[in-house]
Amino acid sequence: MNNEIHAIGLDIGTSKVRCVVGEPGERGVMNIVGYGEAESRGLRRGIVTATDAVAESIKKAVGEAERVSGLEVESAVVNLSGEHFRGENKNGVVAVAGSGREITEEDVERAIESACAMQLPAGWEIINRLPQEFIIDGQDGIMEPVGMTGARLESLVHIVIGPSAGRQNLNKAVKRAGMDVERMMLEPLAAAESTLTDDDKEYGCALVNIGSEITSLMIFGRGAVQHTAVFPFGGLHFTKDIAVGLRVSIQEASKIKQRYGCVASFLLNDDERQENIEIMPVGRTEARGLTKEILCDIMQPRAIELLQHVAHETVRTQAQISSGVILTGGGSNARGMIEIAEQVFDAPTRLGYLDESNFGGLAEQISGPEWAVASGLALSSMRSQVREMNRGNKRPSKMAEWFENFREKFR
Ligand SMILES: Nc1ncnc2c1ncn2[C@@H]1O[C@H](COP(=O)(O)OP(=O)(O)OP(=O)(O)O)[C@@H](O)[C@H]1O
Ligand SMILES: [Mg+2]
Repeated sequence: MNNEIHAIGLDIGTSKVRCVVGEPGERGVMNIVGYGEAESRGLRRGIVTATDAVAESIKKAVGEAERVSGLEVESAVVNLSGEHFRGENKNGVVAVAGSGREITEEDVERAIESACAMQLPAGWEIINRLPQEFIIDGQDGIMEPVGMTGARLESLVHIVIGPSAGRQNLNKAVKRAGMDVERMMLEPLAAAESTLTDDDKEYGCALVNIGSEITSLMIFGRGAVQHTAVFPFGGLHFTKDIAVGLRVSIQEASKIKQRYGCVASFLLNDDERQENIEIMPVGRTEARGLTKEILCDIMQPRAIELLQHVAHETVRTQAQISSGVILTGGGSNARGMIEIAEQVFDAPTRLGYLDESNFGGLAEQISGPEWAVASGLALSSMRSQVREMNRGNKRPSKMAEWFENFREKFR
């Protein structure tokens, strides 16, 4: 195996920065050789608000990953997030003019460009173009049109748009930490890379990444991305509810949530309902008691509300999600979240663990859903470096690059 390749994923989140270091193993597996995590400062809802603070958090997480792996990290694939991103499905049509009406790379590129010709709000840009399928003279479902014959080529493309300032400021923060950005990748796309199987993408599923201040939804079907949406809420909202409801500090609320919290009351047995938890209200010197049932009464309505927003969006798109719902991100660790999501979505739901067929090495240590994004970023980096190496020094055309990503992700 080629160990010249080091794949680094850097997930810069609102509450945590996480770094994963991987190396190619046997049969496309990525061996995780290092990881690091640090408290995050200087972000709001996934957007950089204080560059230096973010850079410090990056240095800490990357430093930790360097110590574990014994490698020096110079660049990384970085997650792109923010509440303003949104996805749209567009189509573009071109006439095939070449000899014998054989479709060329240029035709495909024109068809994709034509789908992407859209009016953007000032300061916005196209973040990602994700081809879904092609239609040649009315025949749909075509994945690789180059070399086929036809007169009319239509492309269906999922386009994600967002403000360019978010990307630029994130870039600056990574640079300030002394690193280069290899590429940026949308947060839910990275989570999908590490946790979804080809069948999930083919038969349809909803990936829901519940972070600290942001929840993102990406719907897959027929092997491609069908919908993207971002919601401005996440795990922090539970913490704030607990802090207000119990008059405790945010730190104390976060601890109570993680240690005793549950968002599905039907999971608590009678003994647990009455189990006493000691809390320390702000400004008091003596502890006060409360039952787990009361804590659950605070958290459950928030979980239902959060998931209902996401489920409504899924229903609105009329997407078929036969493979169900996959939850990733730290917020999905809350006890009962899977069970409540199953009810709200009325679909099978699972936690997004790292897909075992793709990860080895230290994967067990970072198998939790909060690591899905960082691991997916590293896996994506490894895959593109391996492709580049196999290709030699030849630069791929813009179209070839799109397609290699497309095939790799949606094989
Ligand atoms: N066991 C747990 N129970 C409940 N909540 C949890 C648990 N573990 C983590 N969380 C919550 O998950 C959230 C952090 O998730 P994550 O690390 O995915 O967010 P982030 O990537 O930093 O933020 P964002 O994606 O919004 O920018 C926090 O609100 C944290 O309290
Ligand atoms: Mg996140």
